[in-house]
Amino acid sequence: MAEFIPRVFSGVQPTGNLHLGNYLGAITKFVDLQRTHDCIYCVVDLHAITVPQDPRQLKASIREVTAAFLAAGIDANQHIVFNQSQVAEHAELAWVFNCVARMGWLNRMTQFKEKAGKDRENASVGLFAYPCLMAADILLYRATHVPVGEDQKQHLELSRDIAQKFNLDFAESIAANGHGEAFFPLPAPLIQGVATRVMSLRDGTKKMSKSDPSDNSRINLSDDADTIAQKIRKAKTDPDALPSEIEGLGKRPEADNLVGIFAALNGQSKAEVLADFGGRNFSTFKSALVDLAVTKLVPIGTEMKRLTEDARHIDGVLAQGAARAREIARETMVAVKDIVGFVH
Ligand code: TYM
Repeated sequence: MAEFIPRVFSGVQPTGNLHLGNYLGAITKFVDLQRTHDCIYCVVDLHAITVPQDPRQLKASIREVTAAFLAAGIDANQHIVFNQSQVAEHAELAWVFNCVARMGWLNRMTQFKEKAGKDRENASVGLFAYPCLMAADILLYRATHVPVGEDQKQHLELSRDIAQKFNLDFAESIAANGHGEAFFPLPAPLIQGVATRVMSLRDGTKKMSKSDPSDNSRINLSDDADTIAQKIRKAKTDPDALPSEIEGLGKRPEADNLVGIFAALNGQSKAEVLADFGGRNFSTFKSALVDLAVTKLVPIGTEMKRLTEDARHIDGVLAQGAARAREIARETMVAVKDIVGFVH
């Protein structure tokens, strides 16, 4: 297998209500990886329009996700932060991948089935083809590592399948154009830690999600201290005290979720949290969780708010990031055009 320079890419949709799942499952990982890798973080607005969006709200959400990246500690000077629609090559490479991926592959995507629901005939073509655009996002930068939450695992596997099929279908042309035996890396998902799947506060068997109609099901990054406290106090639990061992969380999804959230926010393992709180009741544990969540999240929410008030600054960050992303993207697309056989 060819050698590729290690590079991190990941994206977040600007569809409102960035929540604790996005933060613990993805954004905190983005921040950590900056120390060891060159990173590209993208606000994926082309993905957002696979379902209807209010244009004014969409602009606000793009700026809000950017502000969240910066407030959480992403360094847009050292690394690249931009919004997808400013780099046209994403859509261009996605088209090539639409012609590489097979209908059968996309038909297996569980997220499409969930999002399209019963009325599949009425879903947008974009919602169906979305994983090809996601593969293009990553492979446009020939990224090797992709930090995501558990729910994106299947899409990542599809990205690898697309990269592999492209490398095989065009093997001769790839070699003839001087790229050796493979043009695209097979990107590795980074799904690590205790909070790869944060669950709803109202139902420990359902994922915490932007689209849940109940705002009490999630903690939004923009929630103030009182709202965070209220949501945690109202969070569903069971009548028993917390167990002292991990095994005791087995059939207790709500307890497992709250312990996982505590562990992730405090940089601990679940076992460490249980060593401290085993045998205690939920009201004691929830009070400690409120304190921790407020300490960790409120400063980020406050900074996000401050940053979003200065739209010009945010737009400047995105424009500068897009210019840098475009340089890499252009180079990849020129090579792809040669490999596929386009005149340019
Ligand atoms: P999106 O916008 O739905 O979510 C952004 C990131 O947050 C993670 N996440 C969660 N992690 C833990 N628990 C949860 N409850 C939870 N909910 C969301 C997601 O796994 C994701 O990492 N298709 C992607 C965006 C995308 C992308 C890409 C990601 C587009 N192109 C290329 C990586 C690489 C999405 O819709 O994420």
